[in-house]
Amino acid sequence: MKALHKRIKEEGQALSQNVLKVDSFLNHQVDPELMYEMGTYFRDYFKNHGITKVFTIESSGIAPAVMTAMQMNLPMVTLKKKTSKILNEDVYQTTVHSFTKSVDYELTLSKKYIKADDSILIIDDFLANGEAALGAARLVEAAGAKVAGIGIVIEKSFQPGRKALDNKGYDVYSLARIAKLEEGIVEFVE
Ligand code: G4P
Repeated sequence: MKALHKRIKEEGQALSQNVLKVDSFLNHQVDPELMYEMGTYFRDYFKNHGITKVFTIESSGIAPAVMTAMQMNLPMVTLKKKTSKILNEDVYQTTVHSFTKSVDYELTLSKKYIKADDSILIIDDFLANGEAALGAARLVEAAGAKVAGIGIVIEKSFQPGRKALDNKGYDVYSLARIAKLEEGIVEFVE
């Protein structure tokens, strides 16, 4: 997505070989027009996948996911990150480990918002190790539903997440794919 590449080039800050800071349009301040355009890209790619709901993971996935859901005229569900297990039958939960932040959390979905015949599009802001997306997929599959696709705003292709999702057979579409980060340098996949 051209406009996203431009913003990453102009405003993204490679803080290290692993972390790209994009606080000015995605993770802190949000650019609604750019999010809207992302929604049109995800809609165009996934329009024939029979999707019934758009899922995301709080919090930075919400803006691109809600725009995608609006473009596709579908409901959007935010998966919550809880610090502990909920001891009742009303939710699906799975433990997710974040390597970037060195924390574990319980990804949580109310059973009210998914049915076995749903086909789910998972949208997230970053793909690093793939743990969040794989956790979201586990919740969808625990409900007997199908992961119809995974849409990522910024994929760090040099980290293991993309391969992990490809190996599971998911259809992954990323709006920007980063081949390499170095302090002050961002290189895209050709
Ligand atoms: P993974 O799901 O692919 O395994 O990623 P990981 O757990 O390692 O990432 C944890 C958090 O760090 C996620 O945000 C993710 O979006 C963010 N993150 C990972 N790599 C980068 C990066 O290069 N730049 C930025 N800006 N963020 C990165 P989160 O904890 O879910 O926070 P948020 O959604 O509330 O913003």
